[in-house]
Amino acid sequence: MTQPRSIVILTGAGISAESGIATFRGPGGLWEGHRVEDVCTPEALARDPASVHRFYDARRAALATVEPNAAHLALARLDAAWPGALLLVTQNVDDLHERAGSRRLLHMHGALRSALCALCGIRSASPDPLPPDTPCPDCGEPALRPDIVFFGEMPYHMDAIEAAVAGCDLFVSIGTSGAVYPAAGLVRLAAAHGAATLELNLEPSAGSDLFDETRLGLATALVSAWVDTLLHRHG
Ligand code: OAD
Repeated sequence: MTQPRSIVILTGAGISAESGIATFRGPGGLWEGHRVEDVCTPEALARDPASVHRFYDARRAALATVEPNAAHLALARLDAAWPGALLLVTQNVDDLHERAGSRRLLHMHGALRSALCALCGIRSASPDPLPPDTPCPDCGEPALRPDIVFFGEMPYHMDAIEAAVAGCDLFVSIGTSGAVYPAAGLVRLAAAHGAATLELNLEPSAGSDLFDETRLGLATALVSAWVDTLLHRHG
């Protein structure tokens, strides 16, 4: 692979696993105790807001007990040092990328520390906990909900993400099972526009065959090594 100028990195739950945040689909996965349709849909939120809010309150509270790991820190190092275009797209709703120092970052599935007004659409820092009927700090209506993209809702920033992916030279997917679209389809878009594609994951993802190269192992080891090689070649 020649030295890329423009890089897009997609991360999923696997990059935060070694920080102590459960993944969704692995053994001990987050959904084992909770059916996804009970907590992560607009219908569930309408039917039983207290349970949905409580579920995300617990996830948010857990953030206080975890720290970014070597993989988050390596990506922040890359962000700081890379002179070309770079975009980190995360499916994760934790804040470990920003706490590690990544700046060129988009959360496509929302963020636990953010609240969304279901009426006026304004985002604000989430109270912790965030009970149902919390008033929006902007419009005052009791309509704040977790700022999470539920199943059936459109992920955030898709125009910017697709433009970056279509224009990148290198697309790297880290710690994601490839089970949830549209994130899982970004590798096809990158490849269709001629980008090199690399997967770093514990096991082959659902779309592994779509990548030029797959490296299997722990994110802390694989991501640090990949970033070091890239920056060493560049420097
Ligand atoms: P998954 O739980 O589906 O997949 C996690 C992937 O990370 C798996 O392929 C694991 O093999 C891999 N993995 C686990 N530990 C790892 C480690 N230490 N190093 C490297 N890889 C590791 O999580 P996502 O693909 O992120 O949506 O799930 C996608 C979306 O499904 C999530 O964003 C979430 C969920 O519904 C929302 O919350 C809206």
